[in-house]
Amino acid sequence: MNEIKGVLFDLDGVITDTAEYHYEAWKKLAEELDIPFDREFNEKLKGVGRMESLNLILEHGGKELSETDKEYYASKKNDHYKTMISDITPNDLLPGILEFMEEVKSSGIKTALASSSKNAQPVIERLGITHLLDEVVDASKIERGKPNPEIFLKAAEQLRQPASGCVGVEDAQAGVEAIKSAGMFALGVGESLKKADWIVRDTTELNLEDLRQRFA
Ligand code: BG6
Ligand code: MG
Repeated sequence: MNEIKGVLFDLDGVITDTAEYHYEAWKKLAEELDIPFDREFNEKLKGVGRMESLNLILEHGGKELSETDKEYYASKKNDHYKTMISDITPNDLLPGILEFMEEVKSSGIKTALASSSKNAQPVIERLGITHLLDEVVDASKIERGKPNPEIFLKAAEQLRQPASGCVGVEDAQAGVEAIKSAGMFALGVGESLKKADWIVRDTTELNLEDLRQRFA
């Protein structure tokens, strides 16, 4: 039986509903730039870094901006996002995720965060879950974002665990692709995801026993 050695968690949309805040902040910015924006298009931005997301929005709207203007709009989006995350508390943990993280940790499996967000550190601190993560890999520590496998490979390396013994937990298609390219088991949160090894409807369905059975 194959043993799970590490579980690598995405943050936004897996541990807390900040995916919704990213959506709202990008929507506001797109409206300001007069670019159509809806939930279907937003799916393409999930898991994708800040500047890359802005580039996708501009491409979608057929607009070009100078590097200086792009920096301005990206930081404007981030200011709005930072206001939204400023009052996050442990009550904002998605249902069932705390129990699942505790179950994983107390069973001796290593845990890491693998988040494309540069705001990951303050968010996990406000959520009160830093003690449940052995390592934190965020956007500042990688060169290539999801769907590139770098972030998951780096998290496994920091945990000193083989990729084949790791499970990545993701709500974004770009994230599932990154996990699969890393040679790991992909646990997808959200029924619209493709190519994941196990898909749950939401975080209330996460539990170690079911995961172990599927991983074996
Ligand atoms: C990812 C989100 O976790 O982080 C994306 O899924 C977001 O929506 C990306 O764009 C970058 O986040 P930040 O906080 O660095 O702008
Ligand atoms: Mg996510």
